[in-house]
Amino acid sequence: MSMNNDTKTEKSVESRQKIRSSALLDQFGRTFDYVRIAVNEKCNLRCIYCMPENGVPFKPENNLLNPDEIKQLVNILASLGVKKVRFTGGEPLLHNDIIELIQTAAFTPGIRSVHLTTNGVLLKSKISELQDSGLTGVNISLDTLDSEKFEQITRRKNLYNVMSGLDAVLASGRFKTKLNVVVMRNFNEDELDRFVGMTKHRDIVVRFIELMPFDSQQIWKTGKFYGADQIIRDIKNAFPHLVIDKGSRTEHNIYRIPGYRGKIAVIPSYSRNLCGACNRIRITADGKILNCLFSGQETSLIDRLRGGASDGEIAELIKTAMWHKLENGWQAQKTGEEQRNSMTQIGG
Ligand code: GTP
Ligand code: 5AD
Ligand code: SF4
Repeated sequence: MSMNNDTKTEKSVESRQKIRSSALLDQFGRTFDYVRIAVNEKCNLRCIYCMPENGVPFKPENNLLNPDEIKQLVNILASLGVKKVRFTGGEPLLHNDIIELIQTAAFTPGIRSVHLTTNGVLLKSKISELQDSGLTGVNISLDTLDSEKFEQITRRKNLYNVMSGLDAVLASGRFKTKLNVVVMRNFNEDELDRFVGMTKHRDIVVRFIELMPFDSQQIWKTGKFYGADQIIRDIKNAFPHLVIDKGSRTEHNIYRIPGYRGKIAVIPSYSRNLCGACNRIRITADGKILNCLFSGQETSLIDRLRGGASDGEIAELIKTAMWHKLENGWQAQKTGEEQRNSMTQIGG
C-alpha cells in the first residue's frame, strides 16, 4: 500500500516537473494560452440561433464539471502556460458559484486575466460582487437595440436589464467591455450604424459576429447568414473615415472612428479566416476538451478527473488534444458529422 503511494507521489512530482517545462502547442506552430470554460448549459434567454423555446435536453448537474473540478483544471492549464480564462455558458451568471470561480481563477499563479461572456441580464444585480472578484473583462451578447426585436430574437423581454447591465459595467470602470452582435440578414443588418454609434462616447468594442450553424433547428439555413465581407462594406460605407486598429485574436478586422472612444470589430466566425492565429482551448460544461469550435472530436476530462487521474496525467491529455488540432475550422468540421445541438453545449 505504502509503496503504491510512494510510487504515485514520485510519479506526480515527475509529471508536475514535466508540466512546468511545457507549453501547449500544436503541429502548426500555434501556442494556446487562452481557455474558455463553459460553467453550465442552462440559460435565461432562448436566442433563436442557439436554442429552441423549450431549451435543449440539459444534462443532469452531476454530469457537468463541479466547481472543484473547474478550479483543478484552471490550475493545470495555468501550469501549461495558459494566461487568460474566460467563463461562458449557457449563462455563467446563473451559476451559484461563479463569483468564487472568478476569484479563484484570478488568484491562480500564471493567470493574468479573467473574463466573462454573458447575456447581460443579471449583470446589474451582480455588479458589486463582480467588482471585487478579480474579473478583468466582460463581453455582453446583444443583437438588437430595439425591444420588440430583442423579444423576437431572445424570446424574452429583457432588453432593459441588458442595457442597465452594460451601463453598470461601464460605470464601474473596472472591466474591458465588449458587445457581441450576431448579424442576421433581414433582422439587424440595418442596425449596424446604431451599434457603431455606441462607440462614440463609450469605451467599448462593438463586435459584429457571423452567424454559425450551431442550433438544432438550423435557422442558419433560412437565409439569415450575413458575411463578414458584407458587414465590413456596410460599415465602411456608413463611416468612410474608419481607420484600422488593433484587437484580440478573434477580432480579425478591427477599426476605430477618429474621435470616438471605442472600437468596432468584425469576427468571421463562420468564414474562419481567423484560424491561423487561434490561441483558444475550449472546455465544455460536461467536462470535455475541444481543440476547435467546429471539431466533432472531443476528449473527456471529466471521466479521468473522476477516475482519479493525477494532474500530470490530465495535463498530458490536454497537451495531446491540442497537439492534434487541425489546421483550420474547415478541416475540423470534417471530423464529425454530429454537430452539438446548441452553442450552450460548446460555450461559444
Ligand atoms: P475576446 O477575448 O474578448 O476577443 O473574446 P472572444 O471573442 O474570444 O470571446 P467571446 O466569448 O466574446 O466570443 C465571441 C464569438 O467569437 C463567439 O461566439 C464566436 O462566434 C467567435 N469565436 C470565438 N472563438 C472562436 C473560434 O475559435 N473560432 C471561431 N470560428 N469563432 C470564434
Ligand atoms: N452563431 C454565432 N454566434 C453565436 N452565439 C451563440 N450562438 C451563435 C451562433 N449560432 C454567440 C452569442 C455570444 C457568443 C458566446 O456566442 O451571441 O455572444
Ligand atoms: Fe442564452 Fe447565449 Fe444561447 Fe442566447 S446565445 S440562449 S444568451 S446561451
